[in-house]
Amino acid sequence: MESPPFSSTMVSSASAKDVASETNSSAIEWHSRRWTWGGPISLHRVLCMQGGDDDGSYAKNSDAPASAVTLSKPLLLNAIQSMKLFLASKHDDSLRIADLGCATGYNTLATVNMVVEGLRKRYVEELGFEPEFEAFFSDLPSNDFNYLFRTLSGVVPADCSREMSRRRYFAAGVPGSFYHRLFPRAKLHVAVSLSALHWLSQIPEAVTNKSSPAWNRGRAWIDGAKDEVVEAYARQSEEDLDDFLRCRKEEIVEGGMLFMLMGGRPSSRQPCDQLGDPDSRDKHPFTTSMDQAWQELLDEGLIDEETRDGFNIPAYMRSTEEVERAMAKCGGFEIQRMEYRRIREHSEEKQEEWSRDPASYGRSKANLVRATLGPIVEAHLGRPLARELFDRFQRRVSTDLGLLAKTCFYGVIVVCAIRK
Ligand SMILES: C[S@@+](CC[C@H](N)C(=O)[O-])C[C@H]1O[C@@H](n2cnc3c(N)ncnc32)[C@H](O)[C@@H]1O
Repeated sequence: MESPPFSSTMVSSASAKDVASETNSSAIEWHSRRWTWGGPISLHRVLCMQGGDDDGSYAKNSDAPASAVTLSKPLLLNAIQSMKLFLASKHDDSLRIADLGCATGYNTLATVNMVVEGLRKRYVEELGFEPEFEAFFSDLPSNDFNYLFRTLSGVVPADCSREMSRRRYFAAGVPGSFYHRLFPRAKLHVAVSLSALHWLSQIPEAVTNKSSPAWNRGRAWIDGAKDEVVEAYARQSEEDLDDFLRCRKEEIVEGGMLFMLMGGRPSSRQPCDQLGDPDSRDKHPFTTSMDQAWQELLDEGLIDEETRDGFNIPAYMRSTEEVERAMAKCGGFEIQRMEYRRIREHSEEKQEEWSRDPASYGRSKANLVRATLGPIVEAHLGRPLARELFDRFQRRVSTDLGLLAKTCFYGVIVVCAIRK
């Protein structure tokens, strides 16, 4: 079967890059509180992974989420094996799959491909026909849908072409937040969300409010922060997961599947211990080196304290208990499987290679943070200062050999649930 065409396309609206370049941002001093969270521009307008395919793009820096895709594969295929088959003949309606928080690049294509292939094999073997599939690629409007559509159309980087040559589904883009309704009632047979649900819908206002006990002074994130800060994030996370589940409960057909993989922490850990072990705490790109890079900008007089403290990373690692509680509160789903796993930041061979070449390690880590945080940092600081920040981060990471010798793990929670 030839690759079917798009059934519809949506082109991304303003990316953070566009937003920043709309303003006169050439001066190094440029920064504007207009972009702080809770201000006139919402996080949803700027949060995205870096688009395109250059060295700082998400497409080129998604090894950890790629490991998450690999980890998901047996769990997802196993779940597909036990799923209800919906169609009785090839003339029936299509099977509809959504990837929520799809970003761009190989991971989203591999994920959708995995689901389509798993279901297709079952239909062929058990019912003797091949159904039609529709795949919905959904992300925030700031996502680089143009790049995604180009890969789907076959204008692809080499590492995607193998997946693409086997594309057996109609494709559509759906811009919007997964914390809102994205599809009509009972539309989806499978909804998948990989490495996305730990991104919150917003930064809790109190965290950037100087007069609040939850003011997160001197930190870009919440690992190790004071209780009030962490509690504010935990409340936001709970609200967000409730919204996500309530919307999916409407959209997924009875017997359909919800598969989620999100950043998570071991259940035994308090929320202020987001990363679960001391080495990961030290080495994670959102912690020490990031805070030091912000502090350097401050010490050099390039930004003021208010600007530094106005930036917070909108991510929260849930525990399995927190996810379980939200699922029970929402109702309508039967959890088939839920577990916490750890993903090594990179292989032992890579670690050895990098200890011989710390500069290339620094480059690689800086590219990773550019890919994931670039758009929101640029929205907060403007492009020139964002560049300065990432350069300092890179220098720090390249020169701290003690840190390089440590091993960082990313914790994830995997959940497979069936809509009752
Ligand atoms: C780390 S990427 C993961 C992408 C892809 N699923 C993968 O496995 O490589 C997280 C994605 O979630 C998206 N995202 C974050 N918050 C979102 C929201 N509220 N609604 C939709 N997508 C969101 C981001 O824009 C980003 O593309």
